[in-house]
Amino acid sequence: MKDIYSAPFALGMINAERRMDSKGWCERNSGNISCLVAEEEAREYIDTSKIIRTIPIGFDASPLAERLLIVTASGSYFSNHSFDDLGIIRISADGKTAEVIWGFEGGKRFTSELPAHLMSHIERLKVDPENRVITHCHPTNLMAMSFLHELDEKAFTRTLWGTCTEGIMVFPDGVGILPWMVCGTEDIGRATAEKMKQYRIVVWAMHGIYAAGRTLNEAVGLIDTVEKAAQIYMLTSSLPHKNCISDENLISLADHIGVSYRKDFLG
Ligand code: 13P
Ligand code: ZN
Repeated sequence: MKDIYSAPFALGMINAERRMDSKGWCERNSGNISCLVAEEEAREYIDTSKIIRTIPIGFDASPLAERLLIVTASGSYFSNHSFDDLGIIRISADGKTAEVIWGFEGGKRFTSELPAHLMSHIERLKVDPENRVITHCHPTNLMAMSFLHELDEKAFTRTLWGTCTEGIMVFPDGVGILPWMVCGTEDIGRATAEKMKQYRIVVWAMHGIYAAGRTLNEAVGLIDTVEKAAQIYMLTSSLPHKNCISDENLISLADHIGVSYRKDFLG
């Protein structure tokens, strides 16, 4: 059996944590990541038939029954870049239990945001069967923007597209927005997953962001681009503007690269 510390799925998690933390998006224990792992791939590194312990999930995750996910532990500091803060779980056949098959040593458990992660995986897989990653963190400028900007998805997306040329190319589907809600609950999980039916990015106003992607790179890159756009907004919104990226500019760019964007978010 190969060394799990060399497994691309484990190294990828540590690398994503490092990237997100280096940007200042993961103070203390903030941020969490979950990534679907193919059982054949996991079997190269661990005995997937051995269940170390089980943890009740608290809701019905049966659409993910028998699927394996590598998940960050609740309370883990991404700044530590530690394999000890990761675990691999299998969703039980009835969807009610997480079977820990590796990691979460010393009684650790999965992120408190597991409802938002699993419910979002369930919805994104319906839209894109290749989606594997859900990630959450606290990008500074996006959080600041959510205090100043109206929390309307069309207006918020248009502002982000208008402050960063790459925006409409990277998130042509726009951003979903939730009002401030109590985090770590099934309610916020369900609300996030509802938005994930349409969007790969969901802003939790005055808290942070969720992003979905086929790869860790893609999900973190999405956050990077949204956060850059929010940073330009925060640097410029209180100053008189002399120039802007117009609807016509955005339409010509989207047409040039052939991207299908939310047309109803312009005009
Ligand atoms: P966890 O440490 O439980 O993952 O929570 C961090 C967080 O960002 C909560 O929203
Ligand atoms: Zn958070």
